[in-house]
Amino acid sequence: MEQTLSIIKPDAVAKNVIGKIIDRFESNGLRIAAMKKIKLTKEDAAKFYEVHKERPFFNDLCEYMSSGPVVVMVLEGENAVKKNRELMGATNPKEAAPGTIRADFAESIEANAVHGSDSLENAKKEITFFFAGREIL
Ligand code: PPS
Repeated sequence: MEQTLSIIKPDAVAKNVIGKIIDRFESNGLRIAAMKKIKLTKEDAAKFYEVHKERPFFNDLCEYMSSGPVVVMVLEGENAVKKNRELMGATNPKEAAPGTIRADFAESIEANAVHGSDSLENAKKEITFFFAGREIL
């Protein structure tokens, strides 16, 4: 069993499709082990996305991720990291395969509906960033 971190981003929360996105996870064998709705500060976002701090879009990404509430989840299941990334689709929704979350719900490369950890190592770090051990069940 693996765990991975998923974030439903401000665009998808604003569109009221939290339930539709969660259904993609549950229908594909992932279980929600932890979940909360929060609003990040720009500083929170900058810390979370620190690995991207040299990239040209870093400031826009941090502004965007702190522009409205997000839903943060720990997803659990077999090959959860890879499975979640497959369900999400490509970062740019224009390149996302039909039937993926981003193809169906994302607006742009910035407002792209969901975040998912890209490796097991990063998943552990990202889960610890948002959740205490007693919140993961
Ligand atoms: S990935 O999925 O990590 O391989 O994608 P990557 O291209 O490295 O992008 C990392 C995150 O930055 C976001 N991103 C952008 N935000 C704003 N503007 C532009 N142009 C842009 N390009 C990429 C992208 O949505 C990724 O966010 P997360 O939350 O990690 O999916």
